[in-house]
Amino acid sequence: MNYENIIFYTSNRIGCLVLNRVGKLNALNHNFLSEIYQLLKNLDYNDIDCLIIKSNSEKAFSVGADIVEMSNMKGEDAANYSLFGNQVFDFLENLPIPTVAVINGYALGGGLELAIACDFIITSERGKFGLPEVGLGIIPGFGGIKRLYAKVGENSTKRIIFSGEIIDYLEAKKLGIADLFFPFKEIDEKTREFICTILSNSSFALSNAKKCIQYMKNKENEINNYNSRLFEECFNNIDSINRMKSFKK
Ligand code: COA
Repeated sequence: MNYENIIFYTSNRIGCLVLNRVGKLNALNHNFLSEIYQLLKNLDYNDIDCLIIKSNSEKAFSVGADIVEMSNMKGEDAANYSLFGNQVFDFLENLPIPTVAVINGYALGGGLELAIACDFIITSERGKFGLPEVGLGIIPGFGGIKRLYAKVGENSTKRIIFSGEIIDYLEAKKLGIADLFFPFKEIDEKTREFICTILSNSSFALSNAKKCIQYMKNKENEINNYNSRLFEECFNNIDSINRMKSFKK
């Protein structure tokens, strides 16, 4: 299948999903999310033991939801967009194999939500992290709130979301958002070594361990509808609409 925004290849049974909307720093429009979903649904997880998600952009893993596309959405479109994003990232989070996001630039908004849906976030010194949505008058809408909360706890979740600030890799590592640091020059090789350590264990046991962790997290999934409703409300708020519309000005 031909994709406009992503590339996929496999090497030694490790799948690599490359985000490739480079000119827009991998801003996630609806089509981009659909392509990620199509790919994830169509992969044969008997053929790959691990999935890496990385970017072809030198500047960004992903700068998040496409603000230009969002600025034209009405409340109901926004709710559907949010529910769809939740569906895609929930699917990613529940894959039966380990998943790793490799960050060498901005991981902002929905881009960070995508990374947090992976089992591990590996960053180089180029990693920059943030959820700047509140500055645009909206909230993270793709499940990042529940996932960040589960990953780093209440205090750090509030700090990142309420401040909207962009933090560097050291701070992200300190807060537990990024799990591992490798220098940019070695990140691909070290990531593969890390994955090999994981994959030296029983894939059956790994999959069951992941299922058990997901079972605990998925019990709270009615949060998705609530999150999407709150996201939708922002699109009926005039200040939020103005903030999104002024992004390109
Ligand atoms: N949605 C849509 N387009 C975006 C985007 C987004 N979230 N972020 C960046 N882009 C586009 C820019 O409009 C620009 O397109 P153009 O070249 O056609 O004008 C291109 O990507 C490059 O971005 P630019 O802003 O020129 O790069 P920069 O290096 O000066 O700044 C950022 C990088 C990340 C600081 C800046 O792009 C930014 O703040 N983006 C928004 C991040 C955000 O708020 N994300 C949360 C969304 S909910």
